[in-house]
Amino acid sequence: MQTFTLNDGNKIPQLGLGFYLSESGEATVEYVKNGLKAGYRLLDTAAAYMNERSIAQGIRESGVPREEIFLTTKLWVQDYGYENATRAIDGALRRLDTDYLDLLLLHRPAGDNVGAYKAMEDAQKAGKIRSIGVCNHTVPQLTALMEQTTVVPAVNQMECHPLQQQKELRKLLAQHDIRLESWFPLGHGSKRLRFNEALNAIAEKNNKTIGQVILRWHLQEGFIAIPKSANPDHQKENLDIFDFRLSEEDMNTIRSLDAGRYLGGDPESPELFKKWQELRFELD
Ligand SMILES: NC(=O)c1ccc[n+]([C@@H]2O[C@H](COP(=O)([O-])OP(=O)(O)OC[C@H]3O[C@@H](n4cnc5c(N)ncnc54)[C@H](OP(=O)(O)O)[C@@H]3O)[C@@H](O)[C@H]2O)c1
Repeated sequence: MQTFTLNDGNKIPQLGLGFYLSESGEATVEYVKNGLKAGYRLLDTAAAYMNERSIAQGIRESGVPREEIFLTTKLWVQDYGYENATRAIDGALRRLDTDYLDLLLLHRPAGDNVGAYKAMEDAQKAGKIRSIGVCNHTVPQLTALMEQTTVVPAVNQMECHPLQQQKELRKLLAQHDIRLESWFPLGHGSKRLRFNEALNAIAEKNNKTIGQVILRWHLQEGFIAIPKSANPDHQKENLDIFDFRLSEEDMNTIRSLDAGRYLGGDPESPELFKKWQELRFELD
């Protein structure tokens, strides 16, 4: 698996597997095992996905050594603030049955995200986390966080696909060498992408599927992509993108599809902010 190097020197696989909406239990255990068997090494979960224990079980049963796996999880808003986050980091380690996380992210920019981030900085110093970062932080939110903290985030995980290319945010990320990690990399199955004529023409020309072209576009832009598929055939298809390169012309065609369109909700919407702030999960 090819890697990118993060601003803290750690290496991260360019392609991973997402676990949003992967229910706790046997289905997630099998998803982890199939994915690792297929060759994936980055697993992206979150406290809010409520499936960390099943992911740990899948890793144990896979037989793949822990050190070969890049394990990401996220703190939910209810655990923000320094003290809460310090406890929540130990909770994540316990649920994931590991003594370190490769990457810990703040899931949403709500509440005392600064206090939570400071707890992550200290946990990184203590060796509990290798890399720290954020999700869903737009330019003003990320700027405010960086003004009040010390460690520059290694990653900002954002909705990103050909219809939402995060052009403004990417300028700030480039200034600080913060890596964009794309969630909804395939547009969450959006028909606007699956049946897009321009993408279809590029796919036919390269003898690949539209999904493979989109994932290849992410990697060539320098984004980490974490598509979700519990279907083993789709997992293999999504992994089969390291034997071709999109031409600059094809890259430009895909760049021209940007519509600044959010499919998962505008991260600066006050309604969504309120919703995330109030959402609570029963974590053990
Ligand atoms: N930080 C955040 O706030 C945040 C928010 C959302 C998501 N995420 C992360 O990003 C990950 C990916 O997002 P996502 O799962 O919602 O969207 P996605 O990866 O863009 O799309 C997943 C959808 O595409 C389908 N698919 C995948 N590969 C396919 C293929 N080769 N052919 C046909 N269909 C295919 C899947 O169906 P099948 O299962 O049938 O293949 C599924 O319906 C999440 O799992 C999560 O880890 C993070």
